[in-house]
Amino acid sequence: MKILVTGGIGYIGSHTVVELMNLGHIPIIIDNLVNSDIEVLDRIEKITGKRPIFEKVEMCNFDEMHRLFEKYPDIDAVIHFAALLLVEESVEEPLIYYYNNLTSTINLLQCMAEFNINKIVFSSSCTVYGEPDNLPVDEFAPIKPAMSPYGNTKKICEDILTDTVKATDIRCIMLRYFNPIGAHETALIGEFQDGPPHHLIPYITETAFGKREKLRIFGNDYNTPDGTCLRDYIHVVDIAIAHIAAIERMMKNTDKNIEVFNLGTGIGYSVLDMVNAFETATGIKINYEIVPRRAGDVEAVYADTHRANTELNWKAERTLEEMMRSAWKWEKALAGEK
Ligand code: UFG
Repeated sequence: MKILVTGGIGYIGSHTVVELMNLGHIPIIIDNLVNSDIEVLDRIEKITGKRPIFEKVEMCNFDEMHRLFEKYPDIDAVIHFAALLLVEESVEEPLIYYYNNLTSTINLLQCMAEFNINKIVFSSSCTVYGEPDNLPVDEFAPIKPAMSPYGNTKKICEDILTDTVKATDIRCIMLRYFNPIGAHETALIGEFQDGPPHHLIPYITETAFGKREKLRIFGNDYNTPDGTCLRDYIHVVDIAIAHIAAIERMMKNTDKNIEVFNLGTGIGYSVLDMVNAFETATGIKINYEIVPRRAGDVEAVYADTHRANTELNWKAERTLEEMMRSAWKWEKALAGEK
């Protein structure tokens, strides 16, 4: 199949492209290179032995998108990753986030409708559940007011997709990611970032590497077993594989127009659990201190994965130890070590 992958050289996108290529599919990657590195194409080629098709496209520019669809009118399905995704930045620059994440999605859907391309897998996030009333959280849980403009763009894109599916032939699977971590086993692809990390695991690995003096743990007075927040951390390769399952499901099922699946392991680990898991997996001690809570953090969120396991026929398989080992290998690879 020919699959258009927006944001296909980003963190989750690049891992998904590798899995698609391993199965013989043909990804057509588009990316505006704002938050990504063109060198990832070389790395994908090293892993798969083939260079994926790449087009530099600004999705917010309708004409550029239209020209892309004219060039590739025989796309079978779309996986839509491309988005700005930093929570704090979105609070500072809400208009940039709303403009980018919504306009790109609208332009994509308009082109899909015009060119009769009717299958899309959308990258959503557990952020739409906010602080859930019940845990584990399933797909029927109420959508809560977003904690950030970034989170709101995910919610609004879900609404845009839901309404578009009702009004057109387009069908959609929305995948709500919990906390993707880790990297490809080759350590050729992983999460690239400029400046200080935004998420827990790169903070842990940079501290272990000596780039940072200590990890700051945001609060130990939450109502959780050890007082630190609970999250559902999942290996990025497991997330990537779920996209293939979603595409395959859409190819087979013609009666379901829109579906939503949680992508997690179903286990909630605390921040201290993660520090311990890293220490056990690598033998390296992490220097940390407890600091006040971070604004906007939810106390606990982890997935009910029943629906993804049974309907999507997908299950996260990689262990926490594998997640930590791959994250550590990636950190060392970034620094040019073997
Ligand atoms: N944490 C620390 N110290 C750090 C970084 C994180 O203690 O230096 C803690 C956070 O307080 C939180 C946990 O580690 O309890 C995980 O934090 P991350 O920043 O790694 O991940 P989040 O759960 O905050 O972020 C995820 C997704 C976002 C999404 C957000 C909101 O990565 O894309 O959930 O639901 F927007």
